[in-house]
Amino acid sequence: MGRGSGFGKTILFGEHFVVHGVPGIASAVDSAADAHVKKAAKGINVTDERTGAKGYAEKKKLQQLESIERMLTAMNMDPQKTSMDIWLGGNLPGFSGLGASAASSVAIARAIAEEYELVLSDEQINDIAYEAEKAYAGNPSGIDNTAATFGGLIWFKKNLNKGSNEIEQLSIREPVEIVIGNTGIVANTKAMVAGVAQRKEQNPEEYAAIFRYAEELANKGRKALDEFDLKQVGNLMNESHQLLQQIEVSCNELDYLVELARKQGAFGAKMTGGGGGGCMLALTPGKDLQEKVALAIENEGFEVLRTKIGVRKV
Ligand code: MEV
Repeated sequence: MGRGSGFGKTILFGEHFVVHGVPGIASAVDSAADAHVKKAAKGINVTDERTGAKGYAEKKKLQQLESIERMLTAMNMDPQKTSMDIWLGGNLPGFSGLGASAASSVAIARAIAEEYELVLSDEQINDIAYEAEKAYAGNPSGIDNTAATFGGLIWFKKNLNKGSNEIEQLSIREPVEIVIGNTGIVANTKAMVAGVAQRKEQNPEEYAAIFRYAEELANKGRKALDEFDLKQVGNLMNESHQLLQQIEVSCNELDYLVELARKQGAFGAKMTGGGGGGCMLALTPGKDLQEKVALAIENEGFEVLRTKIGVRKV
């Protein structure tokens, strides 16, 4: 049996903008998807036992099968002639917005490689997972699979001209507590990404100004993380949420949880990932603040994940 893992991620700055070549910053969280793969007699059979994955797994089933077929093709294996049992688990909940799809693609690609005795570098796994991500995101930037493959805190800039993407590991003085709040709405990243592209085309001037500001926020965010100025990181996250509202990828539930987290003292809060549901992220340094914000969200009936950014290993 082959085994593999992929990190979950949260985007601190730049979701959606990264698709169009604006830099972004993502961090792996200290939770991962795990996969086991075993050659089987017939078909590709997926057993998804990720926590909180029920609605998620059902809604994403077709995209998941397409992603596995894409992955096999990228590994020079024929999806029609390959039969395997795939088990998915791990401590990364199947919430939309946490990079669950990319984490599972990386985990599955690693497990397939082990089961079929293929020697693949992390760069190759990342490329394979990028192909798989197309099933979920349509035109993905590559930030999710990069964070899922390499972990850590990463600076990511997509190369729009087919060359390699700019990927840099950033360092942070120490891991910082965050709270991820789940709206419970399973979002369709593909539709969200396509919607932004369409509105950008329809409103070129307005969007150009918003995109310039998103780039400025990513650069300022990088500096603030480097200086470990968490108040400033939080303020910039708040501004980032405003931009995401302007490009119409937030929703009432996300705005509500973001506001709630700020009222409880979070240094900053924003939606994270594709939006339209899915998750928000609150920066809550220290266990006490993390617990306060997490409980407030739970008391409103939403699921949370208490985790950290800047963790290098799960
Ligand atoms: C999803 O986690 C992030 C998006 O920017 C899509 C992508 O970058 O592929 C919305």
